[in-house]
Amino acid sequence: MRCVTYTGAGGNEVVACEERPDPVCGDEEVLIHAAFAGINGADVSQRQGNYPAPPGWPSDIPGLEVAGVIQAVGSKVRQWKIGDRAYGLVGGGGLADRVAVHERCVVHVPSHLDAQEIAAIPEVFITAHDAISTQAGLRPGDTLLVHGASGGVGSAAVQIGVAMGARVIGVSRHAAGRAAIEGFGGEAIDSEGWTDTVLEKTGGKGANVVLELVGAPNFPGDVAVLARLGRIAIVGIGAGQKTEVMLRDLMTKRGTVFGTTLRARPIEEKADAIHRFHHELTRCFDDGRLKPVIDRAFPWNEAADALAHMESPGKVGKVLLDFSS
Ligand SMILES: NC(=O)c1ccc[n+]([C@@H]2O[C@H](COP(=O)([O-])OP(=O)(O)OC[C@H]3O[C@@H](n4cnc5c(N)ncnc54)[C@H](OP(=O)(O)O)[C@@H]3O)[C@@H](O)[C@H]2O)c1
Repeated sequence: MRCVTYTGAGGNEVVACEERPDPVCGDEEVLIHAAFAGINGADVSQRQGNYPAPPGWPSDIPGLEVAGVIQAVGSKVRQWKIGDRAYGLVGGGGLADRVAVHERCVVHVPSHLDAQEIAAIPEVFITAHDAISTQAGLRPGDTLLVHGASGGVGSAAVQIGVAMGARVIGVSRHAAGRAAIEGFGGEAIDSEGWTDTVLEKTGGKGANVVLELVGAPNFPGDVAVLARLGRIAIVGIGAGQKTEVMLRDLMTKRGTVFGTTLRARPIEEKADAIHRFHHELTRCFDDGRLKPVIDRAFPWNEAADALAHMESPGKVGKVLLDFSS
């Protein structure tokens, strides 16, 4: 297989592109041949030495997701056959063109989407769906506020919120990001003065659900704009993790704050998130309410450049690695 590896912790000098023997399928695993692989913020954190792979996953091959065609199945696999197209989540090893994954951690792909489009779905759409729907209980008619709304998870969250019948307000600090958010059906606002804008737009009521993808600097404002009985989901902390907050505001609003990660969940919990996403949202890819959003695909042997691009501002949607040629 061709894969991206980290030779240590640090900057892009530790990124290597290698050929290795294909992974061997465990009894309950399928081996997927992937033409494209999705890059995530976690891959950058892992390269920096801040986010090691959980036990049982390749420690030096980053990558949290997989999408492609099943090439081999383990002896106890019953739900899949060679040639099926599938996508899902792994705890590591995803930045490769061959990935072994538990059969319950993948689902069938929407049939009309091509190899590049399916690679842009699993991590960002499942993360967004799990946070705003499964955990925060977003309802039709609610107001959903999304920070970092033009990025990978954000662009998925805006689309999911709109598809669920919520009013979605998306924050971006650049004009191209705001134009993209409007294109997804959301109401785009500038990060400058965002708390006042949210309160103005909602007539002072605030947001029922806040998806925090940027981190600590936003958190006091998240509490300030939270509606009565609102929920704040902490999913990304790239801009910082330490802050001060007015606990009285949280109490009087009877607000809920929760944090969440997908990567280290046990297989059964991860499979549950993947299958809920599949049952509730696959039809929205079929009828066009949801679309994968691709910022750029880099040749697989330019992984260092792709990771640098992942860290840069101004992206709209997913960054991919191309293993197709
Ligand atoms: N908990 C989990 O299970 C989980 C799963 C997936 C992702 N995540 C995390 O969630 C976050 C979003 O992931 P992603 O894939 O959507 O990343 P992404 O594509 O890089 O998007 C990040 C977004 O945040 C904005 N942003 C970043 N730093 C900012 C700052 N200092 N101030 C204002 N806006 C800022 C970016 O806007 P600009 O374009 O203006 O820079 C961009 O819109 C990342 O931190 C990622 O690690 C967590």
